Amino acid sequence: MRRKLVAGNWKMNTTAAEAAALASAIREKVASFDKADVLVCPPFTALDAVGKALAGSNVRLGAQTMYWEPAGAHTGEISAPMLQALDCAYVILGHSERRARFGATNQTVNRKTKVALEAGLTPIVCVGETLEQREAGQTETVVSDMVQNSLAELTDAIRNTVIAYEPVWAIGTGKTATPDQAQEVHAMIRGLVEKIAGATIAQAVTILYGGSVKPDNAGILFGQPDIDGGLIGGAALKADSFVEIVEAAG
Ligand code: PGA
Repeated sequence: MRRKLVAGNWKMNTTAAEAAALASAIREKVASFDKADVLVCPPFTALDAVGKALAGSNVRLGAQTMYWEPAGAHTGEISAPMLQALDCAYVILGHSERRARFGATNQTVNRKTKVALEAGLTPIVCVGETLEQREAGQTETVVSDMVQNSLAELTDAIRNTVIAYEPVWAIGTGKTATPDQAQEVHAMIRGLVEKIAGATIAQAVTILYGGSVKPDNAGILFGQPDIDGGLIGGAALKADSFVEIVEAAG
């Protein structure tokens, strides 16, 4: 049985003080919950404060992106060793907002994924089609291409990654993929991982769904055989709604 993971992607929201308060509220509410893994990914400026607020708890810390070089003249960037020093366990890579607005490509995501794995961080590699691509019947081709190229040259190490299927048309729109639509793509991704890395790794790898997950749809989505939890944006910014979603994974 794969253990479920519910991850909050706070995006460009919260000051350090607001983030620490949100993290403390989540920590308190999930203190006795052990049926799934819980993760929050605040902005870089809040990682230190949130890490302190979560110390010794069952809530893990992650970042929203990183650069592949360990240090040097890369103005504005953050490296894997910097994230590790703040006790980050995860890093989101290739989120559709990074792909659409900040130049992330499958090639850069692949490079970062390898560096994150080498550093002992768990990369959450995001993939997903746009509405146009879905309507043109290209979902499978587009998502397969993203998975294959973002995970290029990795085989056994895929076990240590998390893949997040996030249809672009469902992110922040209130339009969720139906459980059947999401399950179909998740099963396809797991099948692809089986071809790349074999059945054992395909059965072990965590595949999250993201895109307008809310307390009222989380249970049915997480109940699908190939959906191992969620990457939550808007609903992760309130402790109550996030924790309801976490509990739906239990
Ligand atoms: P949303 O965002 O839950 O606000 O749709 C999900 C994501 O972008 O990870």
